[in-house]
Amino acid sequence: MKKWMQFLVLITSITSASVLLASGGEGGGSQMPPVTNAKWKAECGSCHMLYHPGLLPERSWNKMMAGLDKHFGENASLDAATRDEITRFLALNSADKQDNRRSSRINQSIPASATPLRISETRYFISKHDEVSASTFKRKSIGSAANCVACHKGAEKGDFSESQVKIPR
Ligand code: HEC
Ligand code: HEC
Repeated sequence: MKKWMQFLVLITSITSASVLLASGGEGGGSQMPPVTNAKWKAECGSCHMLYHPGLLPERSWNKMMAGLDKHFGENASLDAATRDEITRFLALNSADKQDNRRSSRINQSIPASATPLRISETRYFISKHDEVSASTFKRKSIGSAANCVACHKGAEKGDFSESQVKIPR
């Protein structure tokens, strides 16, 4: 290879590396990576969509998993072994353990003194949805703000990118 060509290859690889870094933001990427666990999928996806663990901090998941008998007006109790396995999975992948920009923004929007159980009540969620009216969330095709997957088709995989947002009628 000619010297100038080697130089060109070098510059090209440096440029693409820095583009990757820029899209990566604070180290681990801007989007939450998809994560899964069989018990979580079976037990936490039976009444509603699966909420990615990176949407809430560990203390929120711990509190939720300790009160499953009174889960938003439902009894979602599990046997101790299943509950403990799911709790560990949620904790390991929680917003304060994840290295991606989305999760750290959510985490930073929650005061240290608060332990929210609803993603839809975090400051981050509210600021991102200030243009969606209450009546839109109540549409039959949506139901409530908690039904992320109605508008974000990749929600269960942790994909909330703006280009994928589509509000159903
Ligand atoms: C028996 C049915 C049922 C099961 C099983 C269940 N949930 Fe729920 N969950 C609900 C209901 C009902 C709501 C409130 C939904 C709404 O407001 O639209 C809810 C809400 C939530 C929310 C809040 C969403 C938001 O941001 O407003 C989270 C997070 C959640 N559930 C996580 C879990 C996890 C984790 C599990 C598994 C351990 C689980 N759920 C199992 C019924 C259930
Ligand atoms: C009624 C439809 C609807 C529902 C339901 C909904 N969203 Fe959204 N979401 C939107 C719209 C619209 C935007 C703004 C997109 C834009 O700025 O172009 C948005 C933006 C976001 C963003 C920011 C995207 C970005 O990159 O800036 C995140 C994260 C997000 N939503 C998460 C959620 C979560 C988590 C839930 C469920 C707890 C949810 N959304 C429920 C419509 C919805």
